[in-house]
Amino acid sequence: MAAIAVTRERRAGETRVAAVPETVKKLIAAGFSVVVEAGAGVAATYPDADYLAAGATLAKTAKDALAKADILLKVRAPEADEIAEIKPGTLVAATLNPYSEKTALEGLAKAKATAFAMEFVPRITRAQAMDVLSSQANLAGYRAVIEGAEAYGRVMPMMMTAAGTVAAAKVFIMGVGVAGLQAIATARRLGAVVTATDVRPATKEQVESLGAKFLAVEDDEFKNAQTAGGYAKEMSAEYQAKQAELVSSHIAKQDIVITTALIPGRPAPKLVSAAQVASMKPGSVIVDLAIEQGGNVEGAKLGEVFVTRNGVKILGVANLPGRIAADASALYARNLMAFAGLFLNKEGQLAPDYEDEILKAALVTQGGVVVHPNLKG
Ligand code: NAI
Repeated sequence: MAAIAVTRERRAGETRVAAVPETVKKLIAAGFSVVVEAGAGVAATYPDADYLAAGATLAKTAKDALAKADILLKVRAPEADEIAEIKPGTLVAATLNPYSEKTALEGLAKAKATAFAMEFVPRITRAQAMDVLSSQANLAGYRAVIEGAEAYGRVMPMMMTAAGTVAAAKVFIMGVGVAGLQAIATARRLGAVVTATDVRPATKEQVESLGAKFLAVEDDEFKNAQTAGGYAKEMSAEYQAKQAELVSSHIAKQDIVITTALIPGRPAPKLVSAAQVASMKPGSVIVDLAIEQGGNVEGAKLGEVFVTRNGVKILGVANLPGRIAADASALYARNLMAFAGLFLNKEGQLAPDYEDEILKAALVTQGGVVVHPNLKG
């Protein structure tokens, strides 16, 4: 029987967990055994007793959890103390952040782990249930609006009261991928007047179908900005200048700006300049959801609320899904459960098919070396 270990997340501020009692039960039904490090789910509100009730065994330490494990499931890359306990050939699945976290990647290679970066799971139909980027970005988009609304000293919906009318908040979403779409929907539900921008033409219709207004420089470069994989290209300096000019007058009138723009494998594009921030009204709020990839907003600081001289709050909240850890863990754990299913053959034995396009795309270390083409050298 293939043995899964789930260890406690050690990264500061990481509240999520890679398996929840519901997925433990299903993994066991699928033929795995599961051992959970004591306290692994506590920060996500899943007590040890619930894992036991679901059929897991508890281990006191990561060392105990990993002693007989064939598979390690994690949210973040394992830390040095965990890597030290990984046996050669152990299958590791986590969001490894492989472009930035080279030490962990090299540690996993050295430990001869067979590690998979969940970010590299291709966005094909068969892998939809394993798409951690989508499951977590969706929740991050929701939470960004909640954080923005909380920091905003006014209300979101229009209110007509005996004491007078309160105007609806104007919310501008920059970058309309999975997070941006959920941010639009959430801000609309709260009653805000929502506008949005993106460089991919396909987003125009999506924005409008959610009842928001689309704003972008729609030139020839825009018409070709989407890659075959559905992602944005890095735009030319000329386009970015035109885009900045268009959004400048718009940003000055906004109450809350939420930025989510990313380009795979590249630093986040800078979309909001200090001058644009300075043009906003006191009390306005910017939430920079791209902050962990360098940020879209000049002046945004990871893990901090920066208040500018003109009274604009820039929120650089780290790990937004971690602020709704119970749901974020539940969705992430289901993604990993679907992925772990690929490790078994039809007879339920541990036999990963490395020719499977999903495993092939996500595999980053094997046999002591980094094997992913994008990460070598
Ligand atoms: P992402 O997280 O890589 O980027 C967020 C957004 O930022 C994107 O919409 C991108 O176009 C935008 N952006 C980049 N540079 C920009 C700039 N200079 N100005 C304004 N916006 C900019 O994107 P995410 O959320 O991963 O989605 C990427 C694509 O993948 C989308 O087409 C989405 O529909 C697709 N997708 C497909 C899935 C599937 O088929 N299974 C599942 C989830 C997403």
